[in-house]
Amino acid sequence: MSNCYTIGVIRGDGIGAEIVDEAIKVLDAVASSENLSFNYKDYLMGGVAIDETGVPLPAETVDGVKLCDAILFGAIGGPKWDSVERHLRPESGLLALRKEMGTFANLRPAIVYDELVNASTLKPEILKGVDIMVVRELTGGIYFGQPREQHADRAFNTMIYTREEVLRIAKVGFEIAMKRDKRLCSVDKANVLEVSQFWRDIVEEVAKDYPEVALSHMYVDNAAMQLIREPKQFDVILTGNIFGDILSDAASMLSGSIGLLPSASTGEGVGLYEPIHGSAPDIAGQGIANPIATIASAAMMLRYSLGETKAADKIDNAIKKALSEGYRTGDIGAFDAKEVCATEEMGSIIANYASQV
Ligand code: IPM
Ligand code: MN
Repeated sequence: MSNCYTIGVIRGDGIGAEIVDEAIKVLDAVASSENLSFNYKDYLMGGVAIDETGVPLPAETVDGVKLCDAILFGAIGGPKWDSVERHLRPESGLLALRKEMGTFANLRPAIVYDELVNASTLKPEILKGVDIMVVRELTGGIYFGQPREQHADRAFNTMIYTREEVLRIAKVGFEIAMKRDKRLCSVDKANVLEVSQFWRDIVEEVAKDYPEVALSHMYVDNAAMQLIREPKQFDVILTGNIFGDILSDAASMLSGSIGLLPSASTGEGVGLYEPIHGSAPDIAGQGIANPIATIASAAMMLRYSLGETKAADKIDNAIKKALSEGYRTGDIGAFDAKEVCATEEMGSIIANYASQV
């Protein structure tokens, strides 16, 4: 008997469709060898949804994905929708989806593949062996805090965290640290912000339940610097919504390209899996985008939402094999490529390795 899963697929805008197609190709490749079956259901979100329905997150999408086992998402946004009202922007659709799904825990692994230590702008000895998990709070903080207003002479947002919100993300952070190297660095701005002192106090409280985890605290400005200076000092980074957004982009460049980093957003309901990069409108439609971040997101989906660890491992190993065999997309290809691959070729190479038992 095969395990059958329904996957909500949101391709979105820009390179979204191209990269999601490759992730599906790879999922189908492991499905046949692992005796799984996937039933894909397409939903609209972002600019395409605005164009077709007038809103970035149609009700059918919310209702539909709630019934799925997991959601695979590409990217949204683009210059075409930059001037629409904030609540109708493509990004508002994604934020509303995260909120609707209760996906408060965003896991963003930043791994440096050995094969790519030369792809980064940083020195290889700084990078070799880097393996960081950024645990970003995703449904609170300044992204969602009320009040928020923009007037002609002033504008403001509110950075707010409740006790419950900090407790639950801190627990996720410590649980993940327990499964890794048991080092957790909580990043905040407690020297300036009340909300950060509050965050720090609660993290200290949760730490009492995890005596094996070595807890440290760091201010976000210093953390940004330390990530570049000596990234191996980090195992798990636990942080709030906006700091996690910024630090995960910085961490992505350790790996060589933002086109490599996947993410998992989990919490109360259906998990959402997406690359951390955006819709790259400048290269959309050219077939040159790196699909690895999305393929690795599909592997995270298998691991975290579907419990299909073996299939997830196969995909992760297939990505490593493609890189160790010298296949590169343009973003990581300049320095040592055997061949610079198009999006589709990279997808097919990984799918082929993933299907081998
Ligand atoms: C990300 C993105 C989003 C965010 C945008 C598109 C709303 O930058 O997933 O990191 O800020 O969370
Ligand atoms: Mn971001």
